[in-house]
Formats: sequence, structure tokens, C-alpha cells
Amino acid sequence: MTKTALVTGASSGIGRGIAHKFGEEGWEVTLVARRKSNLEKVAKEVEDAGGKAHIFATDLTEEGNPDAAVQFAIDKMGKVGTLVNNAGMGRFEMVPDIKDESYQEQFQLNVWACMAMVRSIVPHFKKNKGGQIVNIGSIVGYLGISKGSIYSSTKWALRGLNESWREELYPDNIKVCYVGPGFVLTEFNGRKEGGTPEEQEWAMVPENVAHVVYCVATQGPNSDIKEISLQVLDRS
Ligand SMILES: NC(=O)c1ccc[n+]([C@@H]2O[C@H](COP(=O)([O-])OP(=O)(O)OC[C@H]3O[C@@H](n4cnc5c(N)ncnc54)[C@H](OP(=O)(O)O)[C@@H]3O)[C@@H](O)[C@H]2O)c1
Repeated sequence: MTKTALVTGASSGIGRGIAHKFGEEGWEVTLVARRKSNLEKVAKEVEDAGGKAHIFATDLTEEGNPDAAVQFAIDKMGKVGTLVNNAGMGRFEMVPDIKDESYQEQFQLNVWACMAMVRSIVPHFKKNKGGQIVNIGSIVGYLGISKGSIYSSTKWALRGLNESWREELYPDNIKVCYVGPGFVLTEFNGRKEGGTPEEQEWAMVPENVAHVVYCVATQGPNSDIKEISLQVLDRS
């Protein structure tokens, strides 16, 4: 197993939690997002935990930037073992209020950027005779929610890509897994990071998702985890 990972959306929330977990386990990571100062902080946290970190600040929705992020990670780490497609965003509007821009920005980041990252890294994985891709979807990639039709459909689309890539890539020992969390305390959609005291009673934390991603990234050679959905325990 190559203990190197490229993690998108690593400047906050779940991506930051995933970066921490890899750091604690002594991995080398490349962290990607737009906010350079946040990435610098997370990189320091990874190194303090015992890992090694590189940062690449970029907007993944712009053409060419996913390719540049992948190339940067290869240049810095030599071999990339795991790609975690985690960067994502959501806008929540009733259907009459859906703006074309919010439709486009959600599909551009949650679907197109993931596709562009995978398209870019697959030749590298083939050359290395293997690799692991983890796509961070959502529990709403399995169901629909009021006001979240576009966000939900981006996560269904990502699950569709996940299923197809699995069929295309397994002969090259490239594994692809969809991880679909429920509510996690992050700054997603303008939420207060860390959550309100009420939310803290029942919601998950980034470490819960990081734990699952790390299990996928370290699975044995003959297994190929297809998807993992994580629900909160209290569903009342
Ligand atoms: N929190 C939840 O309840 C929940 C549940 C299920 C799934 N998810 C999924 O988990 C993933 C992470 O979300 P989160 O909850 O951790 O929220 P978050 O804290 O808002 O994280 C989103 C990450 O994506 C990055 N990002 C956003 N736009 C970007 C762009 N154009 N280019 C590059 N990076 C960009 C952000 O960094 P910059 O702003 O610095 O670019 C940030 O690091 C998303 O895919 C989300 O859909 C979240």
C-alpha cells in the first residue's frame, strides 16, 4: 500500500478530518481547496500529528485546475496511492427558486470536478498498477429531500459515476468507493462550524467520516469496498 493521499476540500470540515486521520497514521498528503491560509493551518496540523503535507490552493471548478492539482501531487509525492474527492457544496432552494447559477456551481464542483480529478489520475494509477478512489457523496445520494433537489441529484450523479468507474477500472486494480454521510457538524452550507449545542447532541463529526475513509484506503488487496453510507444514530 502506498501511504500517500490527495484530498480535495481539505481546508475545513470533513476533508480536514480526513487529512488529520492520514497524518496521525503517518501518511504523506496533498491538500487541495481554495483558501490557502486554511490549507496552511491544516498542513501544520497534519505534520504535528506525524504526517507530511503539501498544499495546492486552487478552484477546482475551473478547467485545467483539477489536472494541475493531480500533477502537483504526483510531482511532490512521487506516487499517489489514494484520491479522496471530497470538495463539495450545496444550495438549498425550492424548485421555483432554483437559480441557473446555483445549479451550475453545484454540478461543476460536486460532479464535473470529481470526474476531472479521476480522469487525470487514472493514467498515473494504471502506471502504478493500482490505486484507490474515494468519492464523498451523501446520504442524499440515495434519497430526495425538499429544497435539496439539485444537491441531491449531484450526489446521485456522483454515485452513478462511482458505479461505472468501478466496472471500468477494477481490471487495472483501481478501486472506487462511494462514502455517503448523513449530517456532519461542519461549516457546510453556511452552518456554524462545530454546530449548535442541540446539533452536537445527535450529529456526526468529521472524525466519523475520516475513520471510514481510512478503512477504505487501507482495505486488503482482495477486497473492493463499493460504498458505505453513514447515518446518524438518533433518527427520531
Ligand atoms: N456536512 C455534512 O452534513 C455533509 C453530509 C454529507 C456529505 N457531505 C459532503 O462532504 C463534503 C465536504 O463537506 P463539509 O461538510 O466538510 O463542508 P465544508 O466544511 O464546507 O467543506 C467543503 C470543502 O470544499 C472546498 N471547496 C468548496 N468549493 C471549492 C472549489 N470551488 N474548489 C476547491 N475546493 C472547494 C472548501 O474549501 P475552500 O472554501 O477553501 O475552497 C472546503 O474545504 C462535501 O462533498 C459535502 O457535500 C457533507
